[in-house]
Formats: sequence, C-alpha cells, structure tokens
Amino acid sequence: MSSAAPAVKTPPRETRTGEAETLISVRGLSNSFGDQVVHEGLDLEVKRGEILGVVGGSGSGKSVMLRSIIGLQVPDAGEVEVFGETMLDREEGDLQRVRRRWGVLFQGAALFSTLTVAENVEVPLREFYPRLGAKLRDEIAAYKIVMSGLPAEAAPKYPAELSGGMRKRAGIARALALDPELLFLDEPTAGLDPIGAAAFDQLILELRDRLGLTVLLITHDLDTLYAICDRVAVIADKKIIAVGSIEELLELDHEWIQEYFRGPRGRAAEEAAEEAASEEAPHEETAAPQPAAKVEESKGKV
Ligand SMILES: Nc1ncnc2c1ncn2[C@@H]1O[C@H](COP(=O)(O)OP(=O)(O)OP(=O)(O)O)[C@@H](O)[C@H]1O
Ligand SMILES: [Mg+2]
Repeated sequence: MSSAAPAVKTPPRETRTGEAETLISVRGLSNSFGDQVVHEGLDLEVKRGEILGVVGGSGSGKSVMLRSIIGLQVPDAGEVEVFGETMLDREEGDLQRVRRRWGVLFQGAALFSTLTVAENVEVPLREFYPRLGAKLRDEIAAYKIVMSGLPAEAAPKYPAELSGGMRKRAGIARALALDPELLFLDEPTAGLDPIGAAAFDQLILELRDRLGLTVLLITHDLDTLYAICDRVAVIADKKIIAVGSIEELLELDHEWIQEYFRGPRGRAAEEAAEEAASEEAPHEETAAPQPAAKVEESKGKV
C-alpha cells in the first residue's frame, strides 16, 4: 500500500470546541527498578488523530513508558488513562476490552518465530475473538498482510525467511489485526536501510490518514520525526521535558535537544525534509493547517 506519491500530513481531528480530544493521558508517572529510578513525575498527553514521536537517549525510559501505558509495567506512582479509562488497578476483563482497541509493534517486531506471518497476525484474533471461524480469520489476516505492504505470498513464510523490513511490516499487520484506533510503535524503522525506512514512514502516514489512527511512535530516526510526526515529545531527566513541533523544540535552550537536532544527522534530516516539502509544494494549498503545538517546559530544565 505504500505508493510513490508522498502522503500529505493531515492534522489531528478536532472536537467541536476546537481542542483535539486526549486519547492518552499520563500524569506523575514514576517507575524504578531497584535503586534505579527510570521515571519521576512524567506527564504526557496524546491527542486523537496525531502522530506523536517520542525521542530520548538510549536507556532514557521510552520503552518502559510504553509498557506502563499499555499495562505491562505497573508503575510505582502516577495515573495512566487511555480512551478516558484508567489503566491501573483494573479487572483483567476490563483491561481486555480496552486492549482490543489498540495495536502494538514492539521494539524488534517480536514476532513468534515458530508461527508463519499469517499465524502471527491471527494471534490477536484468536485471543480476542476465539469463536471466529478459521476461514474468516484467514481472510482477515490476508487482508491485513496486504494492507501492510507485504506481498500476499509472504503469508505462509516464517519470520526467519523475511527481510528486516518485511518483518516490521508483518509486525504492523499483526498490530492492525483488531482494527485498532491507536497504534503504539517502538522503533519501527530501526535496522532498516534509508529507502526501506522512508517507505515504512509513508506506510504509517497512509495508515493514519486512511484508518484515522492515532500513533504513539518511539524513534531515534530523525528522518521519521521530520517526515511524519505532528509533534515530538522529548524524554530526559526521567520525564518528558518538552513537547512540540520540531521548530518549537529547536528554539529551546536544552543541551540534549540542541545536540540531537542540530548535530550532523539532525541537520541532514532537516535538509531532506525541506527538499521533500519543496517537492510537495503544490499539495500545500489543499492541506489543512497544523494546529499550534504546545511546548511544555518543565521547571527551568529547558
Ligand atoms: N525489566 C527491567 N528490569 C530492570 N531494569 C529494566 C527493565 N526494563 C528496563 N529497565 C531499565 O530501565 C531503563 C530504561 O529502559 P528502556 O528500555 O525504557 O530504555 P529506552 O529509552 O527504550 O532505550 P532504547 O532507546 O535503547 O530502546 C534502562 O536502564 C533499562 O536497563
Ligand atoms: Mg526502547
């Protein structure tokens, strides 16, 4: 489904008051492992319809934050709400009901190596809809595989028979199995060559626009940030220190942010994004304006 024409970013859907609906709300999140404090008072909001990128150094707690949001990590303190429902201290049945509304691509794709691509995609269908017939399950899996940009022939293959990029697409197909409203992606383009990564970026953008998804995307990939993220959240010093468009983040006087975005890779990504924007220029008149992103500065840290 990735086409040659670059997809045009559309802004998050707005509520009648003009304020986009909050789909994920994290407040005062704290996590630690033994003596190691990973998060302390972390706050984050994700709006319906947006692609929010999360960046931060390796080991800064991005994946742990994701695990806390989806209920795989019980935090020491804090509140996590998804779709307006708390994720903490819930009955398993209640959590299942919320879980079926999202899809997750874990860091490294995390496919089951002994299952084929189709069988991997069917795992959530079997879990959440055990009474679904085999034929319908196969049809849904085949549809999701093609939707993820894989050839239909990939369905009977095992993960070891796929390239890294194909494995990521298979992971996306599995994440889409239950028609989610929300997609969590942890380092989706890591390990892909630049062309494969750019195609994957376009796939995410197209899926968001076609399916009306909201995407929380953890990434180190500067090109991805420039190409598809509406806003970017920076995690450092155990919390989210700033959220905004890249232009807004660049105005902040914070060492990590400046080094990350102004370093040689950051500048190359910025130039590539400017070049792509100038090629897309005829589309710009039809694209709706982006909503003003808010930069949240924390107590003199930024
Ligand atoms: N289950 C665990 N037990 C103990 N420590 C953990 C556990 N999970 C994560 N950590 C620690 O928490 C810190 C944050 O880990 P996390 O995986 O969230 O980093 P990250 O920001 O995702 O890094 P990367 O960019 O390399 O993926 C690390 O120091 C890690 O060692
Ligand atoms: Mg990680």
